[in-house]
Amino acid sequence: MPGSNPRFLAKAQGLAADEVFLDLEDSVAPLAKEDARKNVVAALREGDWSGKTVVVRVNDVTTPWAYRDVIEVVEGAGDRLHCVMLPKVQDPSAVTWLDTLLTQIERAVGLPVGRIGIEAQIENAKGLVRIDDIAASSPRLETLVFGPADFMASINMRTLVVGEQPPGYTEGDAYHYILMRILMAARSHDLQAVDGPYLQIHDVDGFRRVAGRAAALGFDGKWVLHPGQIEAANEVFSPSQEDYDHAELVLDAYDYYTTIERRGAVMLGDEMIDEASRKMALVVAAKGRAAGL
Ligand code: GLV
Ligand code: MG
Repeated sequence: MPGSNPRFLAKAQGLAADEVFLDLEDSVAPLAKEDARKNVVAALREGDWSGKTVVVRVNDVTTPWAYRDVIEVVEGAGDRLHCVMLPKVQDPSAVTWLDTLLTQIERAVGLPVGRIGIEAQIENAKGLVRIDDIAASSPRLETLVFGPADFMASINMRTLVVGEQPPGYTEGDAYHYILMRILMAARSHDLQAVDGPYLQIHDVDGFRRVAGRAAALGFDGKWVLHPGQIEAANEVFSPSQEDYDHAELVLDAYDYYTTIERRGAVMLGDEMIDEASRKMALVVAAKGRAAGL
């Protein structure tokens, strides 16, 4: 939600999204940046954000706004904040800068040190090639976020529709490598992997298709830019009832056979299940349980 729009900041509180991020970066015009900080602090202080992960996206470290964004927001409402999102991360030093600044502010205002997490957006080629170092750069890091719009611009991808295949490219999925690279870095450092925005906000089928691609690979979620995308996102990132039921069945059956019958590999209908099947089933079951299936 753009920090420059108090009406949207109020509306965000009632939406069925797991996380809301209040933006000070690219959805806020340069001349509105300072007022946006004040709006964001007021919304965090006065709003009811219960049940949501609450994040503020600050401006990137190469801008003149970044340090004051962090200071004003965390001094003003750090106790209401779960994470700070740092855009256009292309070097681990950007994350360590934010980590150090957060520590200083937490000490100054009496917050527990280390309470505020960091989400890092990977939005250009430089960030992608340094992603393992970035992923290891701070214990505060919780999430790697793909920023497709900035990324496509950074590599000169020849398209104007974010997330869709570039016209003329017929050899598969132009995003596969980038998404997989982010996912591998996230999983190897126990971080979440989140896909970025789909800008054709009225094309919910398009959103569903592009979100489905990230969800199928194993991503944990995707941004929504409009309330109309929320239901589709929640559906796409939750297992189907059928898959969830099957996963619970695998877990129950495997538990029974390994403990009562002491067998490690058994048949469940036409399917052989073993310890690895249990792990796969657990991924689906955990998501289904979290979604209340
Ligand atoms: C998001 O910040 C993007 O650039 O896609
Ligand atoms: Mg961006």
